Amino acid sequence: MDVEDVDMSVSSSRTISRDDCYERGKYLIVFRVNRVEFWLEELDSLLDMAGLDPDDVYDRSSASLERPFLRCWFPDDSKAKLVASRSALIRFIIELWGWGSTYDEVLEKISGAPEERKKKYLEDGHCLPWRMDAFAFGRKLSTAEQEDRRNKIAPINLKGPIKMRHENLTQFYILENVQPPEFNASGIPFHVYFGRLVASGIYDIIDKMTLKKRNFLGPTSTETELSFLMANQAKAGKGKIILDPFVGTGSLLIPCTYFGSYCYGADIDARILEGKNSKNAFSNFDQYGLQKPDLWRMDFSPRGCCIRAPPEGLFDAIVCDPPYGIRAGARKSGSRRKLIKPVPEKYKENHIPQTQVYESYDLMPDLVDNAARLLVQGGRLVYLLPVATETYTDDVLPKHPCMKVVANSEDFLTMKISRRLVTMEKILSYDINKQDMYRQETRKHANLLKDNNELPGKYGTEGTKLTKADRRAMKKETREQRRKRKVEKLTTDS
Ligand SMILES: C[S@@+](CC[C@H](N)C(=O)[O-])C[C@H]1O[C@@H](n2cnc3c(N)ncnc32)[C@H](O)[C@@H]1O
Repeated sequence: MDVEDVDMSVSSSRTISRDDCYERGKYLIVFRVNRVEFWLEELDSLLDMAGLDPDDVYDRSSASLERPFLRCWFPDDSKAKLVASRSALIRFIIELWGWGSTYDEVLEKISGAPEERKKKYLEDGHCLPWRMDAFAFGRKLSTAEQEDRRNKIAPINLKGPIKMRHENLTQFYILENVQPPEFNASGIPFHVYFGRLVASGIYDIIDKMTLKKRNFLGPTSTETELSFLMANQAKAGKGKIILDPFVGTGSLLIPCTYFGSYCYGADIDARILEGKNSKNAFSNFDQYGLQKPDLWRMDFSPRGCCIRAPPEGLFDAIVCDPPYGIRAGARKSGSRRKLIKPVPEKYKENHIPQTQVYESYDLMPDLVDNAARLLVQGGRLVYLLPVATETYTDDVLPKHPCMKVVANSEDFLTMKISRRLVTMEKILSYDINKQDMYRQETRKHANLLKDNNELPGKYGTEGTKLTKADRRAMKKETREQRRKRKVEKLTTDS
């Protein structure tokens, strides 16, 4: 039995025969080799949105972050397309015809694959064009090697003309999983998959919207890929109402609007909302022809947040990159002075209150409590939290009786700092009479965050500016750290 047959032979709630490895692993998801820690979390959110239970679609225990392949099941191509059409991390999905450790095994599997999968393409008289491409993950195949791989699959005898481009082109892929030579010796199998392309992810859209090609509004803009991932975690979609309470240049609301949500944003800094040289947060929405969000100046701390919500909640999701000293420090309304003079009547209309430092260990519990109050039942809070990698434990995340963490993954920034992408879901309705109790509960964890999340000053905590050299060093360190982790993981696995 092939390693992939074992992978898929898990019990499943679907009513298909237990030995049907062709059906259970009918599709193969091929991920982009990027932000691997987020692969499954994004997939789970997208499956949920497509009305599918992740446990029915794939076996989590068989998923490995070391290879970008995941065998799975969809009821039909349309569901696979739906999932891919939103994904920032899925490269493409193929309908799998054959797999194995050698090309002979692959051909054997193809010949045993269900007829309805292949019939149309192997029948005499089939006249639609097709093309076949070969890729290896782990090394680059030369043109001659690609030709060699195509020749190995040629015996299946696909009908119809071969074309490079055509509007009705059927695309086939030969995909090799090759470990670099230093790991091959440790017995990690070489693996080949063959199948028909069903759907592609949306990397081309993310690439079009990349910050490099966007009107520059300020250094706080969240990267495009991460913004799309957060929109997917928030389950942004048609008609959903979404708030970013720390909106800055509005980059998190771009993918949410792109997916059809109505978006609102608030920021304590009126200057960032107004922009300069006729460029502001709206400019990016104009650039992409997207509906502009409603933006207003507001402090999201309990003293400043003036959003009222009905008991059943208001927003389907809250997405944010809270200020954390690295790129933009947090402020809240108030003054450190003992004696505060009243605002003269004539200035009251346009008065913007003074602000003072808002520590992250105060901000985080406030954010979660505000979200619990403002979200509808089942609504999601998706936020980023920079953490000191060495001291981080899940305990530092703020807890709330009405909210539960549904996803939490790590994005490495440097050796010492990483960023958690946390998704919480509202599970209980918020009883305003219990607000004091909720706030006390949520604050209990604030001290843990305070004591265990000291971010090194060199990396830009409050008041420190990163130099170009710092940034270069951070990037180098990150690359080095990733490489080390990969080597360690592969060595322990083998
Ligand atoms: C990390 S930035 C957000 C970046 C944003 N995602 C973007 O794409 O530009 C944090 C933002 O929170 C704002 N901010 C700080 N304290 C705030 C508060 N108490 N209420 C609302 N906004 C606040 C800052 O002005 C800053 O624009």
